[in-house]
Amino acid sequence: MKVPYIDLKGQHASLKREISSAVDKVFRDSDFILGKSVSELERKFAAYCGTRFAAGVNSGTDALFLAMKALGIGPGDEVITAPNSFLASASSIAAAGARPVFADVRDDMNIDPARIEERVTPRTKAVMPVHLTGKPADMDPIMELARKRNLHVIEDAAQAVGTEYRGRRAGSFGILNAFSLHPLKTLNASGDGGMITTDSEPLYRKCLALRNIGLKNRQESDFWGYNSRLDTLQAAIVGRKFGKLGKWLAQRRKNAALYRKLLDGVVECPREESFEKCSYHLFVIQADRRDSLQEYLLKNGVETKIHYPIPIHLQKCAQDLGYKRGNFPVAERQSQRILSLPIHQYLSEKQIRYVASKILKFYK
Ligand SMILES: Cc1ncc(COP(=O)(O)O)c(C=O)c1O
Repeated sequence: MKVPYIDLKGQHASLKREISSAVDKVFRDSDFILGKSVSELERKFAAYCGTRFAAGVNSGTDALFLAMKALGIGPGDEVITAPNSFLASASSIAAAGARPVFADVRDDMNIDPARIEERVTPRTKAVMPVHLTGKPADMDPIMELARKRNLHVIEDAAQAVGTEYRGRRAGSFGILNAFSLHPLKTLNASGDGGMITTDSEPLYRKCLALRNIGLKNRQESDFWGYNSRLDTLQAAIVGRKFGKLGKWLAQRRKNAALYRKLLDGVVECPREESFEKCSYHLFVIQADRRDSLQEYLLKNGVETKIHYPIPIHLQKCAQDLGYKRGNFPVAERQSQRILSLPIHQYLSEKQIRYVASKILKFYK
């Protein structure tokens, strides 16, 4: 049996008519730049997250970068984030001219609020919790610490559309928050795309200007900006998928529950607390002999991934930050043990049972 890690071709086949008609409409209207589909998607996105505003931008990375620009974060400032995230969490901080500062994660792979507090200095301007894999970071203590130390919170919700923490959706906690619409995300474009969510009207307006060369109207700009608009075609495609999101998330949650039932006790499966709702962008197990397991699964037709094998502080690009191996033992240990199993909404029960049976066999 073959179990692909992701099935974008299958997704396209099942949505072909909707996507073609969405694309066709954009061509008929020819409003390719900041067209109607962009503002429609922004409205839907904000309503879904429970924020007042959303601004479409050209990637999740830019959503983070522009959030920091909007907040005036730059040279001399520090932003605390997790070392086990995708590179973009930290690279966006560096791109804004600030210094990425890492705090280790907990067993659940999300940033440890107690470790954040240890890293706060007079230069710290913001905390960027990442809801890695679609599991929410522990937002109550993070928000409390941010209030106490007067820090901004910028959620990296790139992997977390639909994630909930104590009844609130990811992307509704921070002052500005970032989502990715990358093709591999659950709510995905057919190219790059991202979204910023916020309750602050002035910051929302600033993001709208920043993404569009700084223009506040057709002619005038008060500050230098960027070209980071969400493409109308991508917005139209994502807009058509929005209606399916609830069903997809439910299917991913069902898949996760089945994996858990079959694999708990054999490998470490991600836990879900009663106060959270994980969206399972990824289903990451932690396992002994991870590399051999991955190889064995591949030989048996099961494609898996590692998110991410090299913690950011050990990347060459982070050399100047002065970290070394051993600085973040939890993240480092996890990087040797984590394995992302296929979790997408097009998997059949038979495929999940097959993956689990192969894992059981490997450890027998
Ligand atoms: C945690 C995290 N942050 C940021 C990003 C950046 O998003 P994008 O690829 O849309 O720039 C991604 C995904 O790619 C991500 O997984």
